[in-house]
Amino acid sequence: MNIENTFNVEDFRKAARERIPRLAFDYFDGGAEGETCVARNRAAFEAIRLVPNFPVDVAGRNLSTTFLGRTWSCPFGVAPMGLTGVGRSGTDIALARAAAAAGIPYVLSTVATTSIEAVTRAAPGNVWFQLYVTKDRSICDDLLKRAAACDVDVLVVTTDTQIPSRRERDMRNGFSLPLRFDARSVLSMMRHPAWCMDKLAHGTPKLQNIAPYLPPGTSAGPIASFIASQIDATFDWDDIARLREQWKGKLVVKGVLAPADAKRAVAVGADAVIVSNHGGRALDASPATIEALPAVVAAVGGKLEVFLDSGVRRGEDIARALALGARAAFVGRAVLFATAAFGDKGAERSIAVLREQFDRALGMLGCNSPDELGEQFVFSPTR
Ligand SMILES: Cc1cc2nc3c(=O)[nH]c(=O)nc-3n(C[C@H](O)[C@H](O)[C@H](O)COP(=O)(O)O)c2cc1C
Repeated sequence: MNIENTFNVEDFRKAARERIPRLAFDYFDGGAEGETCVARNRAAFEAIRLVPNFPVDVAGRNLSTTFLGRTWSCPFGVAPMGLTGVGRSGTDIALARAAAAAGIPYVLSTVATTSIEAVTRAAPGNVWFQLYVTKDRSICDDLLKRAAACDVDVLVVTTDTQIPSRRERDMRNGFSLPLRFDARSVLSMMRHPAWCMDKLAHGTPKLQNIAPYLPPGTSAGPIASFIASQIDATFDWDDIARLREQWKGKLVVKGVLAPADAKRAVAVGADAVIVSNHGGRALDASPATIEALPAVVAAVGGKLEVFLDSGVRRGEDIARALALGARAAFVGRAVLFATAAFGDKGAERSIAVLREQFDRALGMLGCNSPDELGEQFVFSPTR
């Protein structure tokens, strides 16, 4: 499929499936356990109907909005994604640049395949940093120092991965870093010569952010087991409180689903939470984020900003999230598929498609600004 024939996220997904080997596609596309949460995220969005107001003069619509103290061109951003280089080298930079050009935030993962220094050089002033709290806290301390030195002003701390999730597609494919080559994966790779050329030119993807902390000799060895050894089951709200003291910029807690946790985020002085189930990649029994959102919004009572991710595939989903109280939505796979398939052009096109879809939804609802969206647009048979 050529880029000219892609008009929505499902097209980007099909293109990625065609253009990258199965083990990379499955790593991007898959969820945890039975993948019921991935399906639930979509079903819950689709179940929410929005009622338009007709006719309203919407000729002067403006998509811009403010969150975390800054004006953005549109109420969505790019969620942090690790190991994107498994699909295509340079994905982190392509997405960071495209987000900056579009005036929306980009979040770089701790386990990105590009370093924070390189990404902030490519998109200065537009990169947020996502932190996984590691067992060896001196790694976190150093990552925070590096982020601050790169003028990053927003730290996103992820809370839903202190127990590694079980991704059955990855287990079946023998997915690990460095990439392993068994008969089946080699066959799939050989069917994707462009992907093979990319890997020959750039080498197997490396976790550039954490590379400096790998024990000597690990670079070509068991990176996956180093990461596993750094996942810390003791991580709790005390750690987040310490991070709040340590980090001078804005602090965002990612992975909140329970209203009580949202209140804890307020109590520790966070600036925002992201209602997220990691795109269905953590606890498979989690509620869809759009289902969990209203109670979280009610619990925080406007004391911090609430964002949402997981399952956003169309501009109308962004409108749904805003109608139910989110300040902004974040997208992961929606832009990752396009970038894995088409590089820079895919990153730009996927952001443009979502933006255009959101603009259309806003106009059709009879709104001139994202800030006008609210519960009054959510269909209820009794209202
Ligand atoms: C391939 C992939 C890698 C991810 N890596 C990270 C990560 O390193 N850190 C993190 O906080 N979330 C990570 N996530 C979760 C995303 O930040 C986000 O919560 C999720 O993708 C949203 O769901 P969506 O893909 O349906 O939009 C990852 C998601 C994907 C698809």
